[in-house]
Amino acid sequence: MKFSRIPLAHLPTRIEHLGRLSNVLSGPQIYCKRDDQTGLGFGGNKTRKLEYLLADAIQHNARTLVSMGAIQSNHCRQVAAVAARAGLDCILVLSGTPPTLATGNLYLDQLFGAELVWAERETRQQVLEETVRRAEEMGRAPYMIPYGGSNVVGMLGYFDAMRELREDEERLGLRFDWHVTASSSGGTQAGMVLGALAWQYSGKILGIAIEGSAEELGATVENLVQEAITVNNLDLPFDQSLVIINENFTGAGYGVMGEPEIEAIRMFASLEGLLLDPVYTGRAAAGLIQLVRDGFFRKDDKVLFWHTGGTPALFAEPYLSKLQNR
Ligand SMILES: Cc1ncc(COP(=O)(O)O)c(C=O)c1O
Repeated sequence: MKFSRIPLAHLPTRIEHLGRLSNVLSGPQIYCKRDDQTGLGFGGNKTRKLEYLLADAIQHNARTLVSMGAIQSNHCRQVAAVAARAGLDCILVLSGTPPTLATGNLYLDQLFGAELVWAERETRQQVLEETVRRAEEMGRAPYMIPYGGSNVVGMLGYFDAMRELREDEERLGLRFDWHVTASSSGGTQAGMVLGALAWQYSGKILGIAIEGSAEELGATVENLVQEAITVNNLDLPFDQSLVIINENFTGAGYGVMGEPEIEAIRMFASLEGLLLDPVYTGRAAAGLIQLVRDGFFRKDDKVLFWHTGGTPALFAEPYLSKLQNR
């Protein structure tokens, strides 16, 4: 690969068998890859991406990491953590207006010392570009990390994760038929698809769309995979049938936790002592549960649910009171 990496994550992450959940659902055996336990400011999928993005930033002599996201962005929280760890400044462009009390990820952004810039969601990209330009003018050597850390650099974290998984499978004597992951800015799924190609997996990768359409997200994932193949000069036979996305679980939109997410969070917590998050893994798990109920998987399938993190948002409003009041 053309890009280098700075080790940050606690790897390999564990794989746990979710026996009680599998029994209650009476479907395939479900396992969980604990990427919520990657370390770096409460962990999550961004740690793997940031290993590559931080290395690239340092190669570009950056002194300030700049990124953007939602008010409860896990990505931004982890960018803030990595900046603190590397001794870099961090500026985050967040959508919304500052709340009176910072909770969940936002509270952590502040603890990590990030500077916050507020923007409307529609103009966030524009505000980000303006923020980068101003930081350049001030001589702060900014490095812009795209939304979700999803570009040809960041996605390599999940290319590596598939190599790690090969070793997991050897060690456990298991082969997974399906991988289920939350998919939003597409980098996690793109990295997995590329890695699965490189290590010739037969298991299928299913992205549960967090927002938007399968067509749009599929195009993003495909473009990332194609670009990574070109940039790194790889000889891999990619075709678009490898990008599988289910768009049926986007509910009332990004960040709106509904009954399916609440049920999934409660089931994982009460059956497995495992905490999901309200925005990403709660939604992906709700999709997984529904697909099991619909008979989408074979009973003898082994399904690996990738827990991509996000749990600090459990402690943020409006999620906290919605989960508490029952
Ligand atoms: C907890 C969590 N899971 C999954 C995702 C989706 O990953 P990606 O944006 O690479 O598709 C995100 C993105 O922010 C996330 O925070």
